[in-house]
Amino acid sequence: MKSQGPFYGRSVSVVHDLTADEQWYLYRKTAEIKAAVLEGRDLTAYRYGDRDLSVYLIFLEDSTRTKESFRNAAAFHQASVNVFDAAHSSFNKKESLTDTLKMLVGYSRRSVFIIRSTVEGVTRALEVTIGDYCRKAGIEPPSFLNAGDGRHEHPSQEFLDEFSFLEKKGWNRSSLHIALTGDLYFGRTVHSKADGLQIFNQVTVDLVAPPELGLPDFYKQKMLDNGFTVRTFPSIDAYLAQGEVADVWYFTRLQLERMGDEVLDKVARLKHAVTVRPEHLDKLPAGTKFYHPLPQNRTEPTIPDFVTPLPLNGWDEQSRNGYFTRITLIGMVAGCLGLDFKGELKTVTESGDDFVEQGRINPHGKSSEYKTGIKPVDDGIVIDHIGMGRSVEQIWKLLDKIRRNLQLNYLASMGVFSSVKSDVVKGLISIPDLPDLGFKKVKKLAALSPGCTLNIVHGKQVIQKYRLHMPPKIYNFAEIGCRNENCISHSRQHEGISPEFERRGEGFVCRFCERPHTYDDIWTD
Ligand code: CP
Repeated sequence: MKSQGPFYGRSVSVVHDLTADEQWYLYRKTAEIKAAVLEGRDLTAYRYGDRDLSVYLIFLEDSTRTKESFRNAAAFHQASVNVFDAAHSSFNKKESLTDTLKMLVGYSRRSVFIIRSTVEGVTRALEVTIGDYCRKAGIEPPSFLNAGDGRHEHPSQEFLDEFSFLEKKGWNRSSLHIALTGDLYFGRTVHSKADGLQIFNQVTVDLVAPPELGLPDFYKQKMLDNGFTVRTFPSIDAYLAQGEVADVWYFTRLQLERMGDEVLDKVARLKHAVTVRPEHLDKLPAGTKFYHPLPQNRTEPTIPDFVTPLPLNGWDEQSRNGYFTRITLIGMVAGCLGLDFKGELKTVTESGDDFVEQGRINPHGKSSEYKTGIKPVDDGIVIDHIGMGRSVEQIWKLLDKIRRNLQLNYLASMGVFSSVKSDVVKGLISIPDLPDLGFKKVKKLAALSPGCTLNIVHGKQVIQKYRLHMPPKIYNFAEIGCRNENCISHSRQHEGISPEFERRGEGFVCRFCERPHTYDDIWTD
């Protein structure tokens, strides 16, 4: 079956790339496909069924389940399947991923790239760079599916996890009480839960891990923002000692290979805190299931072997569900599934220019009000209220940064002054004979100095006044950088990616790895 459903050409870098309705469609369609496969029914209606679809498995980090389930899911669709790994491809000759993919997109009419990497934000970055390349070259842009990037996200694992929880709950979405235990710090499958669990209406998350393995604050806050009740316990013992215990447990492996020496010294205690022991079992509610994304540590599993034959074992079926959910995911982005979708489709919202606010002009206001220690302006521009609330030293640095970034290499004046109306100090730049700054520079100015005002002066009168607010995106500056060393934006020489930040709430997140930043964090200088 070949058709072009509404998900055709989409990429999934994070769980949130599918709306709640789209995720629900994925789960229901997966249930349909799973039943059809297990009952041996005709599968034509679910298959792409043509080798003009190329599925590339690019695994730059080890994988067994994700790689093999995606490989088999692609074979289900009768696609042409290509496997690249770091050891047997020109990545070994230091070819960039972007260059490799530019070549591959030219080899087939429809491509889906499934990428696992230790570097965070790779699929989002490729969606941008390869997408742009394809549009210019007249090639159909491919889809990218994130198969796990560093400690960021693992969305296809999240989809199979949620599918497994829904099966356990008999498809009742009203509520879920889940205990997350193990390595919540490095476990990307846990991080994806901050969004994925939203498929349930009421969610209680119990975080069961010692502080060294605790969930990063960013994900905990995301859970709270998403309306989850979140509780924290330092060990399984402490958790079971209180009355309200979840009937869904999600374990993760301790990622000792990523931990620093200061944590490695404490390994025995950390393992003990999150490993199941026989005496725990009779404290669990009836019908409890244990889940684990696997692999488990062979010698010291957090779910020891004695649990495997018990009805608690939910992880074997969970692992099998990886095949079915990935059949659906590939089918959706390849376009053969989705024609029966009803609900809210993901839309891309373009950020507006609401960061430029027209200010009120005082009809009697003269440009001479800007004469304090600075050349009065008859015609030109005056940038006022720069860095209000900062120290004198910080404002001087900011003035210099504005001058360099906006290339204000004119006969001009600038300085740091006390505000007329308060004790607060502020920076001021006046540039005679410059009629305006132009939109690009205004945007840069807003990013560099949110809260400043831009005055256009003509015939000694302020004829236009703008107050600049924090813009929705900050990009295109040499002096910005993501604080996450593991982010793809640091390989700009190799991948053609420049740092970019999007406003989220009071702060910003990196467009690629989603690491949260304060405004000041964004700037490297
Ligand atoms: N769950 C998971 O991602 O397993 P692999 O590392 O084997 O793909």
